[in-house]
Amino acid sequence: MPHLLKTKDLTNKDVESILARAEKMEAQCRKGKVKKLLDGKIVASIFFEPSTRTRLSFESAALRLGAQVITAENASENSSAHKGETIEDTARIVSCYADVVVMRHHETGAAERAAITSTVPIVNAGDGAHEHPTQGLLDLYTIKKEHGRLDNLSFAFVGDLVNSRTLHSLLPLLANYPGNSFHFVSPKELSVPKEYTDLLKEKKLSFEETQNLDEVLPKADVVYMTRVQKERFKTESDYLSVKDLYLLNLGHTDFMKTKAIIMHPLPRINEMDSAIDNDSRAAYFRQAENGLYVRMAVLLHALEL
Ligand code: NCD
Repeated sequence: MPHLLKTKDLTNKDVESILARAEKMEAQCRKGKVKKLLDGKIVASIFFEPSTRTRLSFESAALRLGAQVITAENASENSSAHKGETIEDTARIVSCYADVVVMRHHETGAAERAAITSTVPIVNAGDGAHEHPTQGLLDLYTIKKEHGRLDNLSFAFVGDLVNSRTLHSLLPLLANYPGNSFHFVSPKELSVPKEYTDLLKEKKLSFEETQNLDEVLPKADVVYMTRVQKERFKTESDYLSVKDLYLLNLGHTDFMKTKAIIMHPLPRINEMDSAIDNDSRAAYFRQAENGLYVRMAVLLHALEL
């Protein structure tokens, strides 16, 4: 079954076909003529964690393609999970009512567990600090659209790299292209997990880990900011000690390449000054819009259409 649980499960062919499909979806949306390829289908979205972009862009994607949507937002409170139902049981039940299930959960591995009992494809919309594969795909789509290529680019990933599930999904995708190099900018407590640097070593791609944002900025083609993930910290004081370490502001943009882009999965809290929004290199709102087109493509892929 074509579940989408993590980006490592996708073949290069899958990725290429999703990106090409997303481009078609974008063109159709711009013309206001979207083919109703999901007519008669039901998409369930079940979110155990807060979301704005992911849930609404998935639901919009489904509706634009002619599907109908059933949804449980705030599912930790408003679904039977509140009574103690397991993820496995919830997935088994929801899959009786829909053709594809989009699920976000606070536990790492939740989507994998749901996939065991679900009778329809599960699309992981974020599982704890683990993965967020559709964000990885929409980030890849954005980079391709903005830079015209996915190889020989220099990336700066900044902030909470241990908990950023969007980084964890994007990196394995970027590691498939030659000549990419990576600068990981974070305090030691938030550094990128070893399995990802191991992957880069295996692919013979160069990377460095540093705490110095100023040094990295002039080298990067893509500056990817992340939010410090407050909800993943054990204590408030652990969070407070790292929450404001990196703030990208107008002063920084002077040191960036003229063709660099600034990305952020959003929401931003205190890591990007809104004064940079008017800089043409600020790509994060375009990135969020791309989520719609990529999620249309992902739904079609999951339903093998
Ligand atoms: C991200 C997430 O949920 O992991 N948000 C999103 O889906 N665009 C990033 C975040 O919450 O910081």
